[in-house]
Amino acid sequence: MAQKIRTAIIGTGGIANGKHLKGLRSVKDVEVVAICDLIPERMKETKQRYPEISGAAEYVDYKELLKDESIDCVHVCTPNRSHAMITIDALNAGKHVICEKPMATSYKEAVAMCEAAKKNGKLLTIGYQNRQTKEMLYAHKRIENGELGEIYFARAHALRRRAIPNWGVFLKEDEQGGGPLIDIGTHALDLTLWHMNNYRPVMVVGQSFKKICRDGKNTGNIWGGFDASEFTVEDSAFGFVRMENGAVISIDASWALNFADAREAICTLCGTEGGIDFMDGVRINKVVNDVMTIEKPDLREGGVAYYDGNAGFGPDEAEANTFYGAVRGERELLVKPEQAAVVTRILEGIYESAKTGKPVFFTYDD
Ligand SMILES: NC(=O)c1ccc[n+]([C@@H]2O[C@H](COP(=O)([O-])OP(=O)(O)OC[C@H]3O[C@@H](n4cnc5c(N)ncnc54)[C@H](O)[C@@H]3O)[C@@H](O)[C@H]2O)c1
Repeated sequence: MAQKIRTAIIGTGGIANGKHLKGLRSVKDVEVVAICDLIPERMKETKQRYPEISGAAEYVDYKELLKDESIDCVHVCTPNRSHAMITIDALNAGKHVICEKPMATSYKEAVAMCEAAKKNGKLLTIGYQNRQTKEMLYAHKRIENGELGEIYFARAHALRRRAIPNWGVFLKEDEQGGGPLIDIGTHALDLTLWHMNNYRPVMVVGQSFKKICRDGKNTGNIWGGFDASEFTVEDSAFGFVRMENGAVISIDASWALNFADAREAICTLCGTEGGIDFMDGVRINKVVNDVMTIEKPDLREGGVAYYDGNAGFGPDEAEANTFYGAVRGERELLVKPEQAAVVTRILEGIYESAKTGKPVFFTYDD
């Protein structure tokens, strides 16, 4: 690989601008040499926002971009339904890939993505940047130390009161494969499984709802109105998962719910020796000397406004540095594709259970 890594972005919408290009500014020796979007105007706007990529080649057909053999890596930032197709094509074209969450809209696609990475000897990771907040990283270390004991109950929280994304294609079932469950439930479930280090679900049951804001009136939506006729996905979905070792997980996901205490991209973990939640920073609950305790570690970096040691380096930057560090062979990926595939499998199971009214069972050969 040339000294400078040559990278490309496919889909120059909200997340490409808000996260990927922002994160890339913190990575040394990476150049964005190509961008692609079905809407050429989006590429122009992106170049205005990030003048450092003004020289990048522009494509409307991602397959043309992938023909450029000098490109080492690709960021897949398109709507959910096209993640698998573009990722597999990019891996087959010899690129390392960071694909946005959710990995795919079906487990079958997710497995095919893992296989394409393996077959081509290329890296694949998924954009679960929430693992890289200081709270999640700190909690993960405490959990890895064994401080919770055996985690046998967890909750994945992705509840919004009225925050229905009204841009792009988020409300369209055919483009996204689902609503809040696949959109934000995916982050919360990823965090939960990662902390539990448990990727063996055996049974899933769930229910989804289309109950709130369906006429598009009096929505109270923080992002304003939307075309209700296009709102074809659920507004809430809830699931319950049983793992092979007997542990259970409940998942709550909603963009609109009459629930005063909105919280998202967090989880609650309960083990034999203690528990952790993220309701107010990191809270670690235990019984010490026969007394119930709640420990709240102070994770501020010095606590000096504007002069914190780590200012400007958050999960977006950490995600980009982890991926390119792995591409350079200097570190391991944090989000493994096989882990994200299990998240996809569980979410697909909840949708299927909601449709059929029956539980979905998973079996293993080994
Ligand atoms: N990690 C996170 O926290 C996070 C947050 C927001 C969105 N996302 C994910 O990012 C993805 C995109 O979301 P967004 O908010 O940026 O949506 P968006 O609508 O703002 O941007 C998507 C862009 O992709 C383009 N596009 C669609 N199909 C394409 C194709 N075949 N080839 C090239 N370009 C194509 C669209 O024209 C659009 O500009 C979604 O999968 C979403 O789940 C992740």
